[in-house]
Amino acid sequence: MAADADAKKRRVALAALDEMPRDAIIGIGTGSTVNFLIEAIAARPGLIGIAVSSSEASSARLRAAGVALVDLNDLTELSLYIDGADEANPARQLIKGGGGALTREKILASAARRFVCIVDDSKMAATLGQFPLPIEVIPMARALVARALTARGGRPVWREGFITDNGNQILDVHGLRITDPPALERELNQICGVVTVGLFALRPADLLLIGTSEGVEKR
Ligand code: 5RP
Repeated sequence: MAADADAKKRRVALAALDEMPRDAIIGIGTGSTVNFLIEAIAARPGLIGIAVSSSEASSARLRAAGVALVDLNDLTELSLYIDGADEANPARQLIKGGGGALTREKILASAARRFVCIVDDSKMAATLGQFPLPIEVIPMARALVARALTARGGRPVWREGFITDNGNQILDVHGLRITDPPALERELNQICGVVTVGLFALRPADLLLIGTSEGVEKR
């Protein structure tokens, strides 16, 4: 089962190579699917020389693959961002943050002219919300934000022991049936103490590559 999932992730990661313009600086996401992409980049020296990374974990892997990293502040534009997701709907709206890198991921998605999301078909859902929605919070506001989420019908669970690359904490919100993702993202963004909501609906992916047993679907 896990081998099958890995085969789909590897397949979709390889398909993403075809979306990468030569000589461009590329934003690279975080997670096991992206790790297959970094592996593929490592096997093709010179394919990309420079990248912007969404996490310390991906930065370490990219450096080991011989890719130089640049700070987003030193760029005036980012042509492409490639990342995975925890859940995706047919409108290319996503839940992200299972790996806890949602804030930097959202920054890169927002900075990029084009956002290509790579998932295996187990991540597809008609309605988002089966996967608990990760929300990065300022530590002192964790309980305050949790109460606000409970009042909205969610069941927030503190990802205890986990600290994000930005020094913050994560609440994973269970039980949300997300029928209007942009509206919910807007609403949750307003809660004081929330750093980033793991809903990527106001800035969805531009292209969804879906790894299946047979091949890769584009949406
Ligand atoms: C990390 C993320 C990842 O993109 C998401 O968790 C998917 O990971 P994987 O490719 O391991 O399934 O949002 O913060």
